[in-house]
Amino acid sequence: MNILVIGTGYVGATTAILLAKLGANVTGLDLDEGKIKQLQNGVLTFYEPGLEPLLQEQMQEGHLTFTTNAMAVEQHEIIFICVGTPSRYDGSTDLSAVRKVAERIGQQMSSPKLVVIKSTVPPGTQKRVKRWIQEKQIKPISFDVVSNPEFLREGNAVYDAFHPDRIIIGSDTEAAGKQVHALFDAIECPVVLTNPQTAEMIKYASNAFLAAKISYMNELARLCDEIEVSVTTVAEGMGYDPRIGRSFLQAGIGYGGSCFPKDVRSLLSLGAELNTELGILKRVVDVNHSQYRYLMKKVKRKLGLLRGKRIAILGLSFKPETDDLREAPALAVISELMEHGALLKVHDPVAKLPREMQFPSIKSFPTIEETLLGAHAVILCTEWKAYVEGDWESWRPLLTEPYVFDGRNVLNAGRLKSLGYHYEGIGAR
Ligand code: UDX
Repeated sequence: MNILVIGTGYVGATTAILLAKLGANVTGLDLDEGKIKQLQNGVLTFYEPGLEPLLQEQMQEGHLTFTTNAMAVEQHEIIFICVGTPSRYDGSTDLSAVRKVAERIGQQMSSPKLVVIKSTVPPGTQKRVKRWIQEKQIKPISFDVVSNPEFLREGNAVYDAFHPDRIIIGSDTEAAGKQVHALFDAIECPVVLTNPQTAEMIKYASNAFLAAKISYMNELARLCDEIEVSVTTVAEGMGYDPRIGRSFLQAGIGYGGSCFPKDVRSLLSLGAELNTELGILKRVVDVNHSQYRYLMKKVKRKLGLLRGKRIAILGLSFKPETDDLREAPALAVISELMEHGALLKVHDPVAKLPREMQFPSIKSFPTIEETLLGAHAVILCTEWKAYVEGDWESWRPLLTEPYVFDGRNVLNAGRLKSLGYHYEGIGAR
């Protein structure tokens, strides 16, 4: 089986490696020459624990190659579309990369193809992809377009790829659905075979629901602060009820990443387009946007004027085990602190400050100790293990003022207080 994976970003690279590991001959195609060169040398273009050895293994075994040659469409019967689908300014999804790929497939097609959409796309996109392919065909050749959304979590790609909670396949025909199902035969998990529009909706509905869980807890955390209750214990007590579940109840400075913010916005935009009120989701976004400001209010209340204060930022990435900074709450915190004239010292085990944030008032340090030295406050923005399990006892004397703002509610408040820190979480005590 020859499979072409178009787009070698996070989803594309992981999908290509998974399909190769499951026994297919896979080619990863990307127009970005730099990316392809790096992949051809067995090096990932993003940080993801455990994925690079699999990439190298599959390349050495001859199951996986990479190319920039757009003509590759012709040599493959199955084509996965894994290109980016960023937000437009108005929150709707920019499908221009998907469209370009679809049109190229149409132009080059000289034998029947099975096209699989892995990119996260709004309900209704599969129909448009079919039309885009058809419009560019030189002569009519049969093809199928199947929706197969991806549910990988960054930082957990290897585990999630081989142990998904479910596989969703949306197809107009039973035969094409079965063909996609067969590719994942070796993976044991529930499979939902449905129509493409439903498959597309399942992906959006899932991400929006998880985002809603987080915003719900974040809003409750503010109330917990008022009534002097720990939102973490509330979450624990709630989580034992299997109807609620334990996951995604962690309050903090809000969700970020390449998926939740974009997908919730896209769903809201679809609702607006179709005159359907999605009031709960609007609130989900509002709470998320104001959550870091809520933490900032605490910082200002405790520190007073921020001008000239040295503030240590622990963690830049939107979550641990990734170098991804897309919509990372840490960046919003940093911007606001800079506006107030604070002097920032930042640390992240993997992620680097983006170029547009490199100012003289903000310095990156290679070690946590150097970052904390002389700081008037610490703000934890990402719950990397190095911070959660860090040596807070030996770090205490490094600080000029012992204020710790735990933006992820992951530090042991009692212990930190006993070490002389002034601890503030978000509804955590
Ligand atoms: C998410 C979905 O989980 C995944 O199924 C989908 O394919 C892509 O989007 P990802 O963005 O990698 O995955 O990260 P996830 O672990 O879901 O976390 C998203 C954000 O929510 C992070 O910023 C995280 O810090 C935050 N979060 C998560 C919370 O604030 N509280 C929680 O309880 C859980």
